[in-house]
Amino acid sequence: MNRTHNNNELKIDYVNAIVELKGWVSKTRNLGGLIFIDLRDRYGITQIVVSPENPNYEKAKALKNEFVVYVKGIVVERENKNLTIPTGEIEILASEIEIINEAKQPPIIVADETDALEDTRLKFRYLDLRRPVMQNFLMTRHVAMQSTREYLNSHEFLELETPILTKSTPEGARDYLVPSRVNKGSFYALPQSPQIFKQLFMISGFERYYQIAKCFRDEDLRADRQPEFTQIDIETSFLTQEEIMAMTEGLLVKVWKDSINVEINAPFDVLTYHEAVNKYGSDKPDRRFGMLLEDLSEVFVNSEFSVFKNTVTNNGLVKAIVVKDSADKYSRKDITKLEDFAKIYKAKGLAWLKYQDELTGPIAKFLSDDEKANVINKVSLENNDLILFVADKENIVHNSLGALRVHIANQLDLINKKQFDFCWVVDWPLYEYDEEEGRFYAAHHPFTAPKNDQVDNMYNNPRECIADAYDVVCNGYELGGGSLRIYNQELQAKMFEVLGFTPEDAENQFGFFIESLKYGTPPHGGIALGLDRMIMLLTNTTNIRDVIAFPKTTSAQCTMTEAPSKVSTDQLKELGVKLDG
Ligand code: AMO
Ligand code: AMP
Repeated sequence: MNRTHNNNELKIDYVNAIVELKGWVSKTRNLGGLIFIDLRDRYGITQIVVSPENPNYEKAKALKNEFVVYVKGIVVERENKNLTIPTGEIEILASEIEIINEAKQPPIIVADETDALEDTRLKFRYLDLRRPVMQNFLMTRHVAMQSTREYLNSHEFLELETPILTKSTPEGARDYLVPSRVNKGSFYALPQSPQIFKQLFMISGFERYYQIAKCFRDEDLRADRQPEFTQIDIETSFLTQEEIMAMTEGLLVKVWKDSINVEINAPFDVLTYHEAVNKYGSDKPDRRFGMLLEDLSEVFVNSEFSVFKNTVTNNGLVKAIVVKDSADKYSRKDITKLEDFAKIYKAKGLAWLKYQDELTGPIAKFLSDDEKANVINKVSLENNDLILFVADKENIVHNSLGALRVHIANQLDLINKKQFDFCWVVDWPLYEYDEEEGRFYAAHHPFTAPKNDQVDNMYNNPRECIADAYDVVCNGYELGGGSLRIYNQELQAKMFEVLGFTPEDAENQFGFFIESLKYGTPPHGGIALGLDRMIMLLTNTTNIRDVIAFPKTTSAQCTMTEAPSKVSTDQLKELGVKLDG
């Protein structure tokens, strides 16, 4: 009972060969006496035929979906060829059929098209993963991981591991904590990323490190976020920002070519953070379509339309996007839906005008002829254009119009789904200021260096300080982010000070790291690419759970194993942990 071929191998030139196959019954059809069986393995599908005269006929009749079977037979040319699959020109006339194992009726349809709810798919994930489409996702993941290793190995990177039971690193999310039995009352944190350890590798002199690293972040989940995810984590010594960017581009070019045979062009365009946010309303711009944000604040300095005028006088902005040739596609009701969408992003309203020989819309009556002419000129309005305005504080204008721009592009099908648009976003602010808490946060993480000419700003004007940080963006996804690091102990101490750490706090949390910087630290920097997001892009799925074998639900649970779960009082006692209620 050996297997001579897989189920994707047999083509027309195998006709008359005697072959032995194994696999799962994917489908059986009983057509006028002949029984057809689709035999599936991870490689593909081969059709088996059993005629009523065949001594195996009764056995074939008993086969049900997902039975594991062995088939021996002769390859023959098919009458009705199916040219959509590689084995579609042949079939096997079975001379022997063995049932290796039976299967219960599966709770989901094991095929690309399934009507199962995601909850059921996750509960029976091992069956869900039998679906060819899911197998392809994970096979692409495998190829991308191997391609990554090949590229980095050939560029003298060392694959090194870092601990999972560790101390909290401030990547900005909440930590997952693990109680220590031996050291009661103390906790490990699962790493949000290997950030500190990879920097320590540079201090140890390894120069080029990578790791396909598991990271853990207890944060609100979204379509492109999981609590447990994987990074291609990279750190280098002595390289400039440009060198790190070029190395990353080389990696992405190879991964795209190896995984899906697509040539992407490098070098990628480089945008500053300000350009990205001003033009696209996002720090991860999707540039596959236009509809850029236009600043019309100046037009409305003295407007009769008080919402616009007051916003401009109070240092806010009036910006707009133009939906080309679409005025007739959007009814008032449709526009109200767009307004509701903008309000999710805290916009107070969505003013609009249609240009159909003249400007019409609820705010038209408030605008002078000059203002109307200026609007038309400034954004080169053409007949049947729709223009949508948000007036507010800068970040609300950008967030709401940025999101609306993508929403409308999807509605109007303006996005070429086959295109991969990569770009870099550079010159990030080093800090974010939280108005409510009145304090600075690290925009990336507290080890990011200011640009060389920005060190003064770090001391005197942190709000304006620009970082040596870079994100790689593809089709509106933040695919990866990195930075050059602070390698001077004084500057690192200053960083913690600006972030509001007392010297004692900094010492307690990061003392070992600040100390390590004193022993000859090379200039270094790196990047981490989100592997899961990379596979989402490669396989053109918008659901991160599709590309992770055993993912968590949006409420951070595994419906199959039922983790997280209660533990026994004995276990808790051993750990010295008491539950509150
Ligand atoms: P950062 O926090 O930007 O940087 O993370 C790097 C990349 O990891 C991916 N990513 C995620 N993917 C899935 N689910 C999540 N919850 C999630 N969070 C992040 C994104 C992101 O671009 N240590 C730094 C890197 C460095 O400075 O070298 C870091 O972790 O694709
Ligand atoms: P109102 O005067 O509140 O009835 O608003 C008139 C129009 O302006 C409506 O279409 C509102 O959606 C819109 N609007 C109100 N506030 C804003 C704002 N901050 N930005 C853009 N449009 C607004």
